[in-house]
Amino acid sequence: MKMIVVLYWILVIIAGVVIFGFYQKATNAVCKSKKNLTGRTAIVTGGTSGMGLCIATDFASRGARVIVACPFIDEGTQGRKTIVDKTGNNDVVFKMLDLASFDSVRCFAKEILDSEDRLDLLINNAGIAVARVRRSLTMDGLNLLMQVNYFGHFLLTLLLLPLMIKTGTPLEPGRIVNISSVLHFMAGTVNLDHINSRLYCNTFKLYGNSKLYLILFAHELSKKLKGKNVVINSVDPGAVGTNIFNQYWGATGSIITYIFKNCFKTPWQGAQTAIHVALDSEAGKVSGELFKNCKLARAKSDAYDDMASAMLWAESVRLVKLDLDVAEFLTSSAYYH
Ligand SMILES: NC(=O)c1ccc[n+]([C@@H]2O[C@H](COP(=O)([O-])OP(=O)(O)OC[C@H]3O[C@@H](n4cnc5c(N)ncnc54)[C@H](OP(=O)(O)O)[C@@H]3O)[C@@H](O)[C@H]2O)c1
Ligand SMILES: *[C@@H]1O[C@H](CO)[C@@H](O)[C@H](O)[C@H]1NC(C)=O
Ligand SMILES: *[C@@H]1O[C@H](CO)[C@@H](O)[C@H](O)[C@H]1NC(C)=O
Repeated sequence: MKMIVVLYWILVIIAGVVIFGFYQKATNAVCKSKKNLTGRTAIVTGGTSGMGLCIATDFASRGARVIVACPFIDEGTQGRKTIVDKTGNNDVVFKMLDLASFDSVRCFAKEILDSEDRLDLLINNAGIAVARVRRSLTMDGLNLLMQVNYFGHFLLTLLLLPLMIKTGTPLEPGRIVNISSVLHFMAGTVNLDHINSRLYCNTFKLYGNSKLYLILFAHELSKKLKGKNVVINSVDPGAVGTNIFNQYWGATGSIITYIFKNCFKTPWQGAQTAIHVALDSEAGKVSGELFKNCKLARAKSDAYDDMASAMLWAESVRLVKLDLDVAEFLTSSAYYH
């Protein structure tokens, strides 16, 4: 009797996964833009595997100069080679970037500011779903998952903004795209006492929070960037079969990855909305919004809370060890004047 109940539940779960997977694939939309990116420069963090690799490959095939960044030399070199081989575009560069270290972020940003004369697209794609050690702290004293997914991109975005503001024009604004997640719905409300909590036991909640903060950030930054020809939007790619859950979870990770890779979106499908937001002319006219399946979507209502986003801004500036005036200066157009 017990056996039958267990079997029944297994069947229900399998059916659920199959139906959800079918829905994911059926609702996915493909970017239709024919935009030629010759003469433009794009940075894709985590552009060496999964969705980031697909996004970077797409930009390279349109003729862009593409800079991919990840923390491992061998993976980065391999990723670059894959893109060059696929697209025939040699103007693809790999640069080391460890978002878990503010030193690394600063070093990367400095190299870009020193060597590049323009920056059109910044795709904040890198992310981890589970930290190897749940409570592990970075050298900067922050929660590892939070720093990779949110604080690292926060600092990187601010440091690169002057170059993006310099590059953007009213007709062709610079575009920042953050890869968020449906799981932001699972996030708690914005609780600034918890923003850097080491004691979070619930990884999903931590991941969800990091993704909600990305969207809130868009909200705040888009206000600061009004009239500066740089737009910033977030993307929810759906459930996508990449290696993101494989990293640290042992057997559970392998099973989840197997299900994701066989039932849910392919990385190419998952990448489409980010590409759409980066290239589509209509999408270039909005800022501070969330897109899903190549269409405008609505984030959790907390993501539009002006007070929360302003508080999160100030607290993030402090935690990435910038001064508020420096942060304001970076978002102004004064840097190159
Ligand atoms: N897969 C999904 O179902 C799903 C759903 C919603 C949102 N997302 C989001 O989509 C984005 C892309 O994920 P994916 O699914 O394509 O997974 P992925 O294949 O694991 O890609 C993640 C990328 O981030 C890079 N990365 C990890 N830690 C980093 C660090 N400390 N510094 C710099 N780069 C780092 C990785 O580089 P290495 O490989 O060298 O570590 C990798 O290139 C993530 O932000 C994820 O949260 C995914
Ligand atoms: C983009 O335009 C350039 C000329 O401006 C052309 O040489 C190139 O082939 C085009 N690339 C693509 C992918 O259409
Ligand atoms: C993207 O993330 C960066 C860094 O976290 C933040 O400054 C920006 O406001 C975010 N934008 C969106 C649209 O989420």
